Parts: sequence; C-alpha cells; structure tokens
Amino acid sequence: MSLEELSVPNRSHFQAHESATSTIDLARTWARKGAADGATVVADRQTSGRGRSGRVWYSPPGVNLYISQVIVAPLHQLRFTPILGAVAVREALLAHLSKSINPVIKWPNDILVNGSKLAGILAEIENHPNQSCILGIGINVNATQTDLPKDTRIPATSMRLVAGNIFDRKMVLTTVLDSLDKKRITLKSNPRELLKDYSTHCITLGKKVRVTIPDHKPFFALASSLDEDGNLLVEDDAGRLHTLLAADVDLIL
Ligand code: BTN
Repeated sequence: MSLEELSVPNRSHFQAHESATSTIDLARTWARKGAADGATVVADRQTSGRGRSGRVWYSPPGVNLYISQVIVAPLHQLRFTPILGAVAVREALLAHLSKSINPVIKWPNDILVNGSKLAGILAEIENHPNQSCILGIGINVNATQTDLPKDTRIPATSMRLVAGNIFDRKMVLTTVLDSLDKKRITLKSNPRELLKDYSTHCITLGKKVRVTIPDHKPFFALASSLDEDGNLLVEDDAGRLHTLLAADVDLIL
C-alpha cells in the first residue's frame, strides 16, 4: 500500500502509518506528549487491534480504516465522546452510501446496517498531561467476506458489501475527519445536542434486549431511554430499573 492512500492533504496534527499495534497506542503516546485536540493517527493495518470488552478488532491491510483521535476537553465533556464518535461516523457514512442504505447506532456505539456491524468505536481516557479521550474508530470499508472476522457476536459487514462497490479510502477518511471536527465543536458548545442526535438514530431504544454484564447473570429488559450522560436505562422483567454504563446489549428480534 502506498501511504498516499491514507494521507489527508492540509491536515495538521495527523500521522499515517503502514502498521501499528493499535492506533490507540500511538495516539495515547502522542496524547502523553501533549497532543493537540483533534490529533489523529491512522494505520493501514493493526497487529493488535482491539475492540470493546477485550475483544480483538480484526485489522487486515489495504481495505479498511483504523483511526484514533485525541480529544482534549474537560471531564464533564469527555463523557460524551463515545456518543460524539457514533454520531460523527454515522453521518460520515451517510455521505458515501446511497439513500436506501440506513446506518443506525446500536448502543453503546456500534454502527450497523441491516443488523450487521459496519463500524465500531472504542473510547479510552488519558489524564496526563491533559484530560483527554482517545477515540478509536474502525470502519470496514472495502473488506470482502474473506477479509472479515467470522464467529463475531454481531455479524460483520463492510461498506463494499452493503453498497456493491469499492470506496476510495482517502475520501471516506476525509469525510470522517471533517465530521469529527464538526462534532468536537458541538461537544464544546452544546454536548446535549449530540445526545439528541444519538437518540434519534439509536435502534436500541424502545426494544426488548438481553443484557450481559461481566460477572452477572444475563437478563432480559426493555431499553427505555438514555440518561443525560448517555447511559442506557433499562427495565427488567421484574420491573426493576437499571442504569447501564457498559454492557453488551443484544436486541431480541
Ligand atoms: C468495538 O466495536 O468493539 C470497538 C472497535 C474499535 C476498533 C478501532 S480500530 C482503530 C482503533 N484501534 C484499535 O485497536 N481499536 C480501535
């Protein structure tokens, strides 16, 4: 691959690498050296790409996007960064997919098309020297079935598989970064707006779900709403209310 494919002209605070363990690791190292808000690392492949709950994020070369962005903000705004990521990525994908394809958000921040996962987002906090969050975004762009992981909890798909054509990764990357730039401004001016946007496109709300929390027995519940921090409020079959900060939530169809 030529790194040219992943370069973004006129963008400062931007690194593109042939290979990284995880772009989150490189972005975190940069954050610890005082990276600016919006500093971004991309790689053509990751040798230890990671997903939520300690899962592996399959990261083959030449086909997808593996992006990590440092977001510098006070803690009360940083709690909205996973929401920011989901809203920004969904909006960017809309710009590249035809109107008949509807990417939606599954709580907390999976982007799905027709029940299959197109993109995933992982947010990690870094406190030194600035309060920041590393927002890691993986988007399956041109992956074919053979490039995708098998036996995942949610079946994986790609933009290519849902649209039937190949995408220019540089163009998709540029749109995602533009979208993140806009949403970082909203984060600082009116973070509740991100929550509103998120709620409108979150398919989990109003659905019956199966909740799996580490070290707890899974239970069924109704996903009713989001609280003001973006935590999911669910009511179990016995009428008890739970506030979910992190959990696996599967839709019961
Ligand atoms: C998930 O859905 O479980 C989150 C997946 C996040 C994957 C991205 S790819 C770029 C960044 N680097 C990583 O190792 N993970 C995130």
